[in-house]
Amino acid sequence: MAETAYLNGEFLTPETACVPVMDRGFLFGDSCYEVIPVYDGQPFLLDAHLDRFARSLAALDIADPMSREVWNEVLGELVQRCGAGDALIYAQVTRGISAIRDHAAVSGLKPTVFAMAKPFPGMAAADIERGLTAITLEDIRWQRCDIKATTLLANVLARKQAASEGADEAILIRDGRVTEGAASNVFVVLNGLVVTPPKTNEILAGITRDFILELAAGDGIPYAEASVDAGDLEQAEEIWISSSSKEVMPVVRLNARLIGDGKPGAVWRRVRDLFSAHRSGTAFTEQTGS
Ligand code: PDD
Repeated sequence: MAETAYLNGEFLTPETACVPVMDRGFLFGDSCYEVIPVYDGQPFLLDAHLDRFARSLAALDIADPMSREVWNEVLGELVQRCGAGDALIYAQVTRGISAIRDHAAVSGLKPTVFAMAKPFPGMAAADIERGLTAITLEDIRWQRCDIKATTLLANVLARKQAASEGADEAILIRDGRVTEGAASNVFVVLNGLVVTPPKTNEILAGITRDFILELAAGDGIPYAEASVDAGDLEQAEEIWISSSSKEVMPVVRLNARLIGDGKPGAVWRRVRDLFSAHRSGTAFTEQTGS
């Protein structure tokens, strides 16, 4: 099934969806977004994603252009149009189009609303078993990484650097501490304890991250939301990354050094199994909102 898009009230294909160059999303990255996984036609943790979207919009002082009900309708329609199987939704709101290019936005602009859905079968089992490779890089991003803004240049450059070194992800280090991946949250297993950095302005509060912690709590897996030193990456028995598109993936090689025995670890495997068992979506029509 084809990729489908929605732009300001109209359904169309991503190739034909056009935004004027005076859109502040284009000129300034003055915009925020969400990526939402869909399993078997049903969105996963949609309310949590739309809550975070609302927080990002509020941080940018952009009024949410659609009610929760209309978001559910639009995203549900998009998923139907792309085949209602396993999919990924991308949704973005920009501050809108202004007559002149000026950093200071005039108030009262009409936000641009864009969304698209694409069929997404997920990672192949063999690739998951092979695990990912990562490098560490200095985190040169701004102080509001908690906002899911489209202004992602530092993340893009980090991923580019990782790719040029043959790695899948860059794990970012600020002041000697792990923050997150270029497009993921980071977990380490240290002496059997699962540790992930706390939710601060330095990281995105990942929806997948929170779900993993819930799974760990429910299964009695010891975990902590605590600072992870760069040096801990050297000691870690396991390193994982998480995101809406990657779920939870093991990192088996960091900076060309094997993690553990270079194979996905036992704690990851347990969490991964729990994830697969609990990742069912909820119908768009049954979303409660918040
Ligand atoms: N990115 N941190 C960053 C910087 C991210 O870009 C992402 C996800 C995450 C994980 O968040 P979540 O579990 O809510 O997806 C953490 C998405 C997938 C993207 O930009 O495509």
